[in-house]
Amino acid sequence: MNTAEATRIEALELGPMENFVYLIQDPTSARAAVVDPAWEVQRILDLAEERGMRITDILLTHSHHDHINGIETVLAHHDAQLHLLKAEATFWGQHLDLPTLHHGGDVIHLGESAIEILHTPGHTPGSACYRVQNELITGDTMFVFGCGRCDLQGGDPEVMYDTLRKLSALPAQTIIHPGHNYAEKSVSTLEEQCTGNPFMQFSDPADFVEYRMHTHDLTRHTPYRAVPREA
Ligand SMILES: [Fe+2]
Repeated sequence: MNTAEATRIEALELGPMENFVYLIQDPTSARAAVVDPAWEVQRILDLAEERGMRITDILLTHSHHDHINGIETVLAHHDAQLHLLKAEATFWGQHLDLPTLHHGGDVIHLGESAIEILHTPGHTPGSACYRVQNELITGDTMFVFGCGRCDLQGGDPEVMYDTLRKLSALPAQTIIHPGHNYAEKSVSTLEEQCTGNPFMQFSDPADFVEYRMHTHDLTRHTPYRAVPREA
């Protein structure tokens, strides 16, 4: 008989850029993983303590400052292992203290919980999404009714187009947890994104690139809402 309790994901919205920091909790082992520790780290530590969890792992969706500026503070309090994709570590070029470098498809075991890493480049070369059961932590790859910028160093809109197409093949009821609170709601389903996220509505990569790199920023503002598909 499987007595393992279900994995739990809780979000904290922290910092001036409305970042979501996630605490993935494995109740059976009382282990927790922090995704993108940044900003008011004490609130992350307090949440883990309230839940009776020990932070054993730090997962990075990518290396931008607003997603990583709390790593050292977490490490000062918890003996945690840092995980990111090898492609992101290469892009980042920072000295990291013995991280575990992954490839897409790898699975991190957090006690009884399996966390699959998806390589989802486009915002940065080594951007990752983390999949736990039917939940997907998307970082800056996919927002609720939006997607990450591709005009920063290492960004590539054509690569992002392919990434979003791959994500659209995941089960429709997959729950999306984005890296920023840019929409009217903080959580969505992939089905809802495939319908109402304008970045998911292109069938021609060139049109996507034009929209991502030019049109979007001139025509849309946060909070993002669903955009009906044109017939
Ligand atoms: Fe970013």
